Amino acid sequence: MSELAKTETSGLAVVILAAGKGTRLKSKRPKVLHEIGGKPLLAHVIAAASQVVAPEHIYAVIGHEAERVRAAVAATGVQFVEQKEQYGTGHAIQCARAAIQGYQNVLVLSGDAPLIRPETLAHLEQFHRDEKAAMTILTARPANPFGYGRVVRKAAGSPEVEAIVEQKSLAPGQEKIAEINSGFYAFRTEPLLAYLDKLTTANPHGEFYLTDMAGLLRAAGERVVAVEAQDAGEILGANTIAEMMELDAHMNQATVARLMASGVTIFRPETCVIEPSVEIAPDTVIEPFVQLRGATKIGSDCLIRSYSVIENCTLGEDVLVRQSCVLTDSSVANGARIGPFMHMRPGSEIGENAHVGNFVETKKARLDKGAKVNHLSYIGDAEVGEGTNVGAGTITCNYDGVNKHITRIGKGVFVGSDTTLVAPITVEDGAYIGAGSCITKNVPAGALAVGRGRQVTKEGWAAARKAQRDAKRSGNA
Ligand code: UD1
Ligand code: CA
Repeated sequence: MSELAKTETSGLAVVILAAGKGTRLKSKRPKVLHEIGGKPLLAHVIAAASQVVAPEHIYAVIGHEAERVRAAVAATGVQFVEQKEQYGTGHAIQCARAAIQGYQNVLVLSGDAPLIRPETLAHLEQFHRDEKAAMTILTARPANPFGYGRVVRKAAGSPEVEAIVEQKSLAPGQEKIAEINSGFYAFRTEPLLAYLDKLTTANPHGEFYLTDMAGLLRAAGERVVAVEAQDAGEILGANTIAEMMELDAHMNQATVARLMASGVTIFRPETCVIEPSVEIAPDTVIEPFVQLRGATKIGSDCLIRSYSVIENCTLGEDVLVRQSCVLTDSSVANGARIGPFMHMRPGSEIGENAHVGNFVETKKARLDKGAKVNHLSYIGDAEVGEGTNVGAGTITCNYDGVNKHITRIGKGVFVGSDTTLVAPITVEDGAYIGAGSCITKNVPAGALAVGRGRQVTKEGWAAARKAQRDAKRSGNA
């Protein structure tokens, strides 16, 4: 997304309402910290606002579980205002009075409506300035307006608004009004603060409604206008878990649509979870039921097969991830083959054309070009050199119960199956390790190391034992 020009002066503040409990969610977690698209609702709203003004001019009003909310989004650099008891959206702005004083205009955003686009916020502000309004309401016409505040215009087609009427206070006939209040507004600060204390709690919820500012300002002869959002979808808020999951689906749909439009093939896209932060190059194919999360970047011509979950990973070109792999905080270079059923834990670096096969776990492991770990192995805190072949069932014993130690395996090494490498240990280039070895001493280049009990073979042992048993049995009879 292109960065919109940020307001240079401190003429514009953004206030994000995020203090509510979200009673209708029936959850311990504050509403604005519920996640869709891999991020808390509030983080989405902050991200959109940050495209319009610098974070130091964004004020999040927090109250319910304030410390938890603050901690979750502190890294964004926004400011916080506390609303200790939540007496409504109007009261939330009363609590922000000191913060917004001195700004010419204020955008008020709802912390529970995460699909809002920065372009729409910029348009709202521009419209508000052009109209020289005291209050501008962003509106929409959703398929079902039930539950929303309705916008009563002065006359059809007029930008001017008489009032906003909440669902519970609708007069007969007003429920037919299709245009709803999105919960996003622009205010000129001076009239907002001048009339803010005139709000009352004379309504069915007994709260100070910010929506009542429309009627108050209007009665005072101030100009109140409305501007409709281009897409009714983007102002949707979430008051219940079901509504939140709809928003998540909405965001996911938008992401897969964008990726498909850019040349990525996604089979059954409705079954894939792809977070908006994920980047995928054209000609890559994603099979059904794949999850791609966080800062994941995938090059072109890759195939990601079903049930794989990839988070914060970078994949090069022509990478194959077979079914049911879990890849986290790692990188995979061009041409590598992964899985099926592979667990790539943080810090794994899989080199070009390397193969990591079924039931292999890696952690902080570097596999160089063409290295192979094809079956049933644990490779942790390790380096595996170019062209080295690690046999089935190989284990790096990296942990002594207190500390982690490194295993270094050079180039062109052959590690026999069922080898345990007791770290710290180094196996130099071109060495061979016999199958079933427990390797506790460094292996020099080109050497063969075998570390196992010698085989003992006793010819005719089974027949001799049988004869002994038979004799014992007849003796007992
Ligand atoms: C609000 C609007 C309604 C609009 C709808 C759009 C009011 C009275 N009604 O209703 O017209 O159609 O949004 O989604 O404003 N909050 C606080 N402090 C409080 C109360 C709420 O910070 O004391 C925050 C909430 O955390 C939430 C936002 O304000 O993020 C909106 O509050 P909510 O209770 O969800 O309002 P709605 O009933 O959705
Ligand atoms: Ca709401």
